[in-house]
Amino acid sequence: MDRSIFQRLLITYLAIIILVIGVLAVLLTHFFNHFYFDQEQQKLLDIGEQVISQVQDCQAGKLTPDELSQTVNIAGQTSSSRIFVFEGESIQKLKGLGTELEEAKESDLLPDVQKILSGETVVKKKYYSSQLNTYVVFVGMPVTTGDSVNGMVLLFSPVARINTVLSQAYWIIWGTALIALLVGCLVIYWTSRRISHPIFAAKEAAAALAEGDFSREIPVSGSDEVDQLSASFNYMKGRIQQVEQMRHELLANVSHELRTPLASIRGFIQAILEGVIPPEEEGKYLNIVIKEVDRLTRLVQDLLDLARIRTGNIKLNKVLLDVSDLAQEVAAEFHLLAIGKKVTAAVEEDLVIKGDRDRMRQVLINLVSNAAKYTGPHGKIHIGARKVGSQAVITVEDNGTGIPEEELEYIFEKFHRVDRSRDTSTGGTGLGLAIVKELVELHKGTATAWSKPGVGTKITIEIPLCR
Ligand SMILES: Nc1ncnc2c1ncn2[C@@H]1O[C@H](COP(=O)(O)OP(=O)(O)OP(=O)(O)O)[C@@H](O)[C@H]1O
Ligand SMILES: [Mg+2]
Repeated sequence: MDRSIFQRLLITYLAIIILVIGVLAVLLTHFFNHFYFDQEQQKLLDIGEQVISQVQDCQAGKLTPDELSQTVNIAGQTSSSRIFVFEGESIQKLKGLGTELEEAKESDLLPDVQKILSGETVVKKKYYSSQLNTYVVFVGMPVTTGDSVNGMVLLFSPVARINTVLSQAYWIIWGTALIALLVGCLVIYWTSRRISHPIFAAKEAAAALAEGDFSREIPVSGSDEVDQLSASFNYMKGRIQQVEQMRHELLANVSHELRTPLASIRGFIQAILEGVIPPEEEGKYLNIVIKEVDRLTRLVQDLLDLARIRTGNIKLNKVLLDVSDLAQEVAAEFHLLAIGKKVTAAVEEDLVIKGDRDRMRQVLINLVSNAAKYTGPHGKIHIGARKVGSQAVITVEDNGTGIPEEELEYIFEKFHRVDRSRDTSTGGTGLGLAIVKELVELHKGTATAWSKPGVGTKITIEIPLCR
């Protein structure tokens, strides 16, 4: 049977508390029972001792039989017990197993009397006395002179009296147990609710979250584990909300980026098909179409790269890599491309990192392409690589348009372009630096930007050197 956490906690706690209180009450009851019966028995033994010494005094002639029976009566009354003394003739009869006890309706005691007559003290905690018609504590003691038994004292104390005292003790024990149980139940009910309520709230909020409802927060009232769980849940909800927001933005950006080139491709092809463009100019427009197709291919490739990095599906083939060689190689390549800009490099030797050659090349190409894209026709681009402490520091610097200060912190974000209208002409999609940053971070490095509009831009990459 499926039970809620609340029910399980409640049942478990209740079972424990009932068990503990029950066992305690039973033990206490048992203890008091023994305690009172032991006390009663000790009391009868003490009185018995006193009576024996009186009997001995009587036998020695220090007391008259009347005085003896008087003191025995008083002892019986004050202790609420019945005391029988056998001595003189009656003890002689008993020695021959006479009828005295039968007359006293206590013939069940005959075997015990034999023991007492042989000098033993007999104690019975629960003996049914026919004469008193009730259960009694019984103590039988021999009166001795030297080695011979010449008398016997029997004491009976009714159990009913002890039971009255005991029942009061039981009331106190079981009453307290009941109150403890009730208070315990209330505390347990409250505690169980306190634990299960946030879990229930989390369950409800999670279900709402699955339906796209981000409005539910779980209340956090303290700092215990349950509160920490609630706080973590709220944090997780916030993050999911952020991711959801980013997903929406990404989708909007991607569809926008796809639509523009697709529209122009369609436009040019349609114009050619309809004969709007004269045949001699078709080549020019088809070249634009090819550029747009290239742009789309690059966009898809960049998106794939980013997605692979994000999902951890990118495989880095990390080897010992000399970034000074790589920087020089990229500088030479751009120089050869004859982009009309001056590309220089100043690198220190032996900057060995642990990295993926193709991916690090992609990083440098992205940076140098940007520098080339955002500088004028005679722009200067400088690639630097040097060692600072335990880091390889690679810089790509240009004297181009620069980036306004308020834009600097966003340029590593996906699809962020400083001036969208300007960038359409340069064909950028705003993914280059986002890929740079992710790739550098996969190499345990950092990427930062410095720029001043009208002066130039400098992107710095720091990656730990291999020791
Ligand atoms: N060297 C630079 N000088 C001036 N602005 C730059 C420079 N590098 C980047 N930027 C600005 O930062 C933006 C983001 O750069 P990023 O490389 O991510 O995108 P992109 O170059 O526009 O497109 P992509 O690289 O995806 O083709 C650019 O659009 C540009 O506005
Ligand atoms: Mg770029």
